[in-house]
Amino acid sequence: MTTGVRTSPNVTRYHPLLVSLHWIIALMAAASLVGGLLVLQATPNSDPMKPIYLRGHMAGGLVLGVLMVLRLLTRLRTARPQAAGTPRLHRASQVAHWALYLVMFAMVFTGIGMAALGGLWPILSGGAVVLPETFALLPPHAGHELFARVLIGLIAVHLLAALWHAGTGKSVWGRMWFGNRFG
Ligand code: HEM
Repeated sequence: MTTGVRTSPNVTRYHPLLVSLHWIIALMAAASLVGGLLVLQATPNSDPMKPIYLRGHMAGGLVLGVLMVLRLLTRLRTARPQAAGTPRLHRASQVAHWALYLVMFAMVFTGIGMAALGGLWPILSGGAVVLPETFALLPPHAGHELFARVLIGLIAVHLLAALWHAGTGKSVWGRMWFGNRFG
């Protein structure tokens, strides 16, 4: 996976738009995961609150999809700092990063698949819908469930890698924060 054309020895931080998107997406993805696993999954479809929870989850998920496209475009079009570790570590980190993008998009697409097959779109505008007995009956649900677990695993690896870098004295946190990019 070559994405090296835009790395620059003169750049010490990611572009501020990418930094903003990174942290907004991180918070929203965490909220979607926690909300999905702890609230949606624990609420039966017969519960009158379920459409209200779904409305927030679906709207947040769709916004995440748009932000991910914006992020991907910014990632491809802006200069970024050079590799932080050995070439081997850098390759591993690139695979992990692209896997994060892929799984995030897979979450959005399987979510959209459920909304389409389950006739859930009116929920977004506050309309009434008859929910299926369980979303597990809809084929994209299995993917949404599986990718949620994969996403949690990838986020854990991502966090551990950032902590490991900090432990080696070559912290990468500053690269994903605001400040002079050329100093
Ligand atoms: C990155 C974006 C998203 C994340 C991280 C996310 C996360 C989750 C999680 C963790 C669950 C529980 C999965 C399980 O049953 O084990 C869930 C369920 C669900 N999500 Fe999402 N989701 C996202 C986007 C979407 C979108 C865009 C839609 C629809 C437009 C959507 C619709 C649903 C539905 C219908 C359920 C099933 C709720 C249930 O089983 O009761 N999600 N989501």
